[in-house]
Amino acid sequence: MSGYVVVGTQWGDEGKGKIVDVLASKMDYVVRFQGGNNAGHTVVVNGKKTILHLLPSGILSKNALCVIGPGVVVDPYVLLEEIALLKKNGLEVDHLRISDRAHLIMPYHIKLDALEESKLGNHKIGTTKRGIGPCYADKYTRIGLRVGDLKDYDYFKERLAQALSIKNEIITKVYGERPFDFDELANEFLKIKEALEPMIIDATALINKALADNKQVLFEGAQANMLDINYGSYPYVTSSSPTSGGVITGVGVAPKYLNNIIGVVKAYSTRVGEGPFTCEQLNADGDKLREAGGEYGATTGRPRRCGWLDLIVVRQACEINGLSDLVLTKIDVLSDFEKIPVCVGYMLDGKMIDTIPSTIAACERLKPVYKYFDGWQEDIAKIRSYDELPVNCKKYIEFIEEFTNTRISLISVGPDRENNIITHDLI
Ligand code: IMP
Repeated sequence: MSGYVVVGTQWGDEGKGKIVDVLASKMDYVVRFQGGNNAGHTVVVNGKKTILHLLPSGILSKNALCVIGPGVVVDPYVLLEEIALLKKNGLEVDHLRISDRAHLIMPYHIKLDALEESKLGNHKIGTTKRGIGPCYADKYTRIGLRVGDLKDYDYFKERLAQALSIKNEIITKVYGERPFDFDELANEFLKIKEALEPMIIDATALINKALADNKQVLFEGAQANMLDINYGSYPYVTSSSPTSGGVITGVGVAPKYLNNIIGVVKAYSTRVGEGPFTCEQLNADGDKLREAGGEYGATTGRPRRCGWLDLIVVRQACEINGLSDLVLTKIDVLSDFEKIPVCVGYMLDGKMIDTIPSTIAACERLKPVYKYFDGWQEDIAKIRSYDELPVNCKKYIEFIEEFTNTRISLISVGPDRENNIITHDLI
């Protein structure tokens, strides 16, 4: 089977970009299936660190055709900026395609994201303010604009007029802000149409043919199961399905093609934005994790909230995604700790539970039940073979496998491409 999926198993920022980068060189296609430029992955372009938000990480691998799938929301301004940035750095981007069914993030979505967040006050979600939620909301209320609409500009303008009449009413009457000008937007999108048109395709047909022809296809996830619209800590979630199920609906491919489903798990937990976070360490340990792990948001620069590994969350990710493998990242960050707690259950109102409650109120009452591991206090970044890892480090790794009933196939022990220990071939 030739369909590979990479997803996050926690709250995002697990290091998916690195593993996608490792796999992309062996792929014929790299496809994003959900989210938009709320994601952020750091890539090294000609020795220079660059942060990409919308383009698939695989864009650096010239042998793979990169596809922005139907389930993605596309901010065309960001897309054109990222393309220009790569070109400026001497990279070709003629291996990029965009689904005609992907939705466009319009300037009013970004405006509404900020307005809605400020209206929520203390209950704000802590979104990336990229217009993700408002764009998906319009998709489901059926007033969204799709990339393919640009091909028929008169039709696009008709749809824009309809959407704008609704959006401007909200912007002016609810928020007392200035409306968006139809002519201005229509003119800007004429330029966008010209720039994007050569890349717009029926991505579903393309990827189905590729899979039927046994080509290697990598579906690159953004965010993670705890930010999933259905299974995450709703409403503190993103507005899409970052789980493997999201590939099926977000690209339009059959489940039978997806049996290499790789979950990326960071050796501890981080979260950006608001919402419950049971193992959070608002103390010196949390600060130490943040500094050692460089835990600052790639998209917004916000310091990430840090805490211990929550295996209830990771086990849920294994179940929901049907993970065949785990990739463990940033285990080197834990090297300096004497004792390392791992959450193996929760106390809720005096009872031990091992699943995640659906309400925020209950999640906020959870107390973590920890199992404590001895640390290893030794630099492991140069180790390339599993056997050479310190015994205590191996105990930590093996417990994760046992608890989640999922094998760990790659262990990342440092940020560079080659800082990996491979225990099972992923391809
Ligand atoms: P939105 O996706 O911008 O609507 O934000 C909703 C929530 O998801 C916020 O808590 C964000 O911080 C979080 N979020 C969105 N994308 C990412 C990501 O790529 N990594 C980590 N958190 C994210």
